[in-house]
Parts: sequence; C-alpha cells; structure tokens
Amino acid sequence: MQLTDEERAMADGAQGAAVAAAMDLLVRYGEALGADRLVETNNVCGANVFGSRHVRLLGRGGADLHDTAFARWSLDSDEDLDIPPVAAYSCQLIGPMDIEHPELQHKDADELQAVLDSEAYSARHGIHLLSTCTPYQVGNVPVRGEHCAWMESSAVVYINSVLGARTNTEGRESTGAAMLTRRIPLYGLHLDEHRLATHLVEVGVEVETVRDWGLLGYFLGEAIAEGIPVIDGIATTPDLVRLKHFGAAAASSGDVELYHVPGVTAEARTVEEALAGRSPAATIRYGAAERRVAYERLNAKGDDRHVDLVMIGCPHATIDQIRQVCTLLDGRKVHTESNLWVFTPRAIREVAERNGYADTLRAAGAHLLSDTCPAIGQFVPPGCRVIATDSAKQAHYLPAIMGLQGWFGTTAECVDAAVNGTWEATAP
Ligand code: F3S
Repeated sequence: MQLTDEERAMADGAQGAAVAAAMDLLVRYGEALGADRLVETNNVCGANVFGSRHVRLLGRGGADLHDTAFARWSLDSDEDLDIPPVAAYSCQLIGPMDIEHPELQHKDADELQAVLDSEAYSARHGIHLLSTCTPYQVGNVPVRGEHCAWMESSAVVYINSVLGARTNTEGRESTGAAMLTRRIPLYGLHLDEHRLATHLVEVGVEVETVRDWGLLGYFLGEAIAEGIPVIDGIATTPDLVRLKHFGAAAASSGDVELYHVPGVTAEARTVEEALAGRSPAATIRYGAAERRVAYERLNAKGDDRHVDLVMIGCPHATIDQIRQVCTLLDGRKVHTESNLWVFTPRAIREVAERNGYADTLRAAGAHLLSDTCPAIGQFVPPGCRVIATDSAKQAHYLPAIMGLQGWFGTTAECVDAAVNGTWEATAP
C-alpha cells in the first residue's frame, strides 16, 4: 500500500503509539481488501461505548481502563495505549442502553455506571454522542462525494444513496482507527466504478406507503444480495422516512449498501445514467406477487396474535413519526398486557418533549426511548414472547436474536395492536 509522507510518519509513531497502532490496523485492513492507498475522511461514525460486560472481560478497573478498552476493541491492539483526542469529526452511533430507562431494559447499577463512564470517556476524547443509527437526522449530514467511514448498515445505505456520500460498511475497529488518523482504505464504494447499478428493478405495483417501501426493500435485499439496484417505475417521490425504511430493509435481508432511484437519489437522473451504458446483471420484476412474498416472509414467525411488545422507530423515528403515533393513539391507552416502545434520537426526544408528544405517549402508557434499540441492546419486556413492528429490519432481526414471534405491518396496525393487545392486519 502506498502511504503519503504524513501517513508514513503516523505509522512510524510521530503522533504517538495509539495513532501508529491505528495506522498499522488500516494498512493491514487495506491490504487485505486490495486497496492501493488510504483516503482522507473527516466524517467517522462508530461505536465505542462499552458496557459492564466489556469491563468484566478486561478483568480490572483503574484510571486507564477505557484507554485499554479503546485499544482492545476499537483498535484491535493488545497493547496498553494512551488514546489521544480524535482527529476526525467523529460520532457515536447506537449504544448498549438508554441511561434514562435502565429499569425498562433490566440493566443494573453496574451496567448503568459502566455506560455512563464509557460515554464520558468518549465525550472527553471528542466523540460526539449523537447515539443513534440515524446521525443524518440530527446534524451529521455528509455532502455528495464526501468520503466517510460509517458503521451501521441502515445509515450507510442512506448516506450513500440519498445523499451521495461515500462509505463502505465499516466496523468498530476501522472506524476507531479512522477517528485517530482521518484515514480509511480507498476501495469499494469510495470509487466511481463501484457505484454504478448492477441490477435493474422494474416496479409494476404501487409503492407508496412506509410499509410498501419496507416490503420492496426486503424483497430486493433477498433477490440481489450484494448488488446495486436501480429502481424504475416509482410514480411518487418518497420522503426520508420511506427511504430510511427501504434501505434498512434491503440491508437486512441482503447486503445492499447503495441504490439508485432515478430523479430521487443523488447520483442518477435516469436508469441509463445509473447503468452507465452497461447491461444489468439481472432484471428483477416487482409486482403484487413479489410484494406478497416479502410480506409473508416477514410474518412467517408470527403465530400467537397476543402481542407483548410493539416496537416503533427502526431506524430511529423522526419527529413526525412520533407525532403520527400520538395521532393514531387518539387518546387510547396501551393494553395492560402489552407495551408500546418508540425509539428516536435523543435530540429528537427533546423536541418531542417540547411539543408535548412525550407527554401524550406517557399518558397512554407508552415509552419513548433513545440511544439504543431492542435488537442492539438485546432487551424486551419480561415474559415477552410476541412482538409487532412497522419495520422490516426489526421484524427480520429481533425474532432471530431474541427467539420471539414477530408480526410486521403498518404503523396504524402496530398502534392498534398495542392498544388492543392483539394483532389484526390486512395483507397488501
Ligand atoms: Fe437502528 Fe436498531 Fe433498527 S440500530 S436500524 S433501531 S435494529
């Protein structure tokens, strides 16, 4: 791998042992990928908040505990390193818990203190605690062509596609190293030639609602796995919510990191431009039958109609989605044998407080949470056996991770399920 003089100096220790370890990691990683060089980035989103499990794994306390944790899990180094403040604009993605609701997540005092200490360490080192899978909702909005280093598949596909920024799906170690060096290997979606469409999707059915977009994404992720679809036949202009649900679904049933919707997303005005004159590897038709297949797959784990938990906010909800839940509740209360949890970035939760939506949710017996989600934090209410959600991604992962039954439907069907305690839905 070719390094610049500045990068060579970093690798040789000119900026300290931690930066040298970070450069060593990036060079090893880049060479494994076949990258010729690194590219500068000043926008890194990673996950460096550690809970009590990590502290226990280290087997000790001490003033340098979090330096050791960062070296071990964010830099893949066994050395004790003195970690400097980050060099790049860096943000924390989602974390292990919402520190304001430990009781809902069955987290004890040790876990709460471990997360508080870890967050304080990140803050001291200049990592911004956005603590969401949707940083693009709360201030980190990269521009077209900007080289980024982001984790979290739903965020990666959103900024690549909708914003035209450039990132591969990075990991904790590569983002940890990028935070200290402002570098990431130049390969994959950082390069023009890897951003062209590989698959043509001909949509022959109306794709309008959030559920429609989730189903389309879920079907395409399974159908094309790692390809880049260009989607033709969309008659309306999808908003942020629809595109975040679409990308999250495609990145969970498959590994889609970039898609093009001509006239909507950043890099293709037409199908021809997305393909750049090449023939697609395959043409996929999406009609009512394919939509039905996706719907049935997402509901395949549902059997018992008694719903214990309704989860809204995967990816984290917008303020308007929170308002919609309040409107759908329409003064009704959550059933005594069910739960309604809505997840949103903490900054949006503050707006929900100011707008009175948080009060509305509390009055209904629902909970508004931030900083984490059930799939990442691995928590559900005690005795929970059946969940319902309006998110194809959460319906895909949560039953698999937690061994639950799952239902997928519209936001209205989910809110009704929380109020009635039972699942009633109409298939598309
Ligand atoms: Fe976000 Fe958790 Fe869904 S990280 S995208 S709410 S699975």
